[in-house]
Amino acid sequence: MNPKYRKTIIAGNWKMNMLVSDVKPFVEELKGYIPKTKTCETVLCVPAVNIAAMLKLGKEARIVCGAQDVSKYDKGAYTGEISASQLADAGVKYCIVGHSERREYHNESDMLVNAKTRALIEKGICPIICVGESLEQREMGLTMAHINYQVRAALAGVDVTMLRHCVIAYEPIWAIGTGKTATSDQAEEVCREIRLIIRDMYGARAARSISILYGGSMNAKNAAELLAQPDVDGGLIGGASLKPQDFATIISATGADNE
Ligand code: 13P
Repeated sequence: MNPKYRKTIIAGNWKMNMLVSDVKPFVEELKGYIPKTKTCETVLCVPAVNIAAMLKLGKEARIVCGAQDVSKYDKGAYTGEISASQLADAGVKYCIVGHSERREYHNESDMLVNAKTRALIEKGICPIICVGESLEQREMGLTMAHINYQVRAALAGVDVTMLRHCVIAYEPIWAIGTGKTATSDQAEEVCREIRLIIRDMYGARAARSISILYGGSMNAKNAAELLAQPDVDGGLIGGASLKPQDFATIISATGADNE
């Protein structure tokens, strides 16, 4: 992390978990553990049906509400879709795009990830753009080439002003939900590479200011070491974000003190 230049963000991704009735007890419990800090932004990307409850109840625990997906279209006959305008109108501030689960189970292409990214920025929502290699790609030595391609594709047509409203998350697919975390060296190596790609595309100042998160089996035990890396500015947390105490421990691991 380098809080002097960029925001530290701990974002939870609830995926398809939790009911509306779970939000209140979750926030109540989290409140008891969470450090009162301004140095770390706490985001929870919840299922669409939980957004209203999280917006209403999350404030007490200083939770900023995020979504998990968005349509590339702005309005019209797209049954089942939710637009960036609708998310912005509801009060959502962040939205995950390009998660490997959507790329894999919903065949989302890099072009679609780019369209969603731009739709979000246009409506003032910060995209959390996920990139990451498979185990096979890592073993074949293709990690950096793949990351390079995904980052550039997601940001096609995004200018430097728009980039200020973007966050990138490095999520190696082999580490998601597997309990197999990247070592802090592996996480740092790829997050640093992402920063170099941003520098190449947008210049040194943009590279220094963009927050880059690590995601993939980050938990209460390994968070401190991962977050201590200079180019890891926070975490995107799945399983551990469902447990208030663990999630709060990860927030504390950013070094966030009670103020
Ligand atoms: P886990 O923390 O459960 O591995 O999930 C990571 C993730 O996919 C966050 O988006």
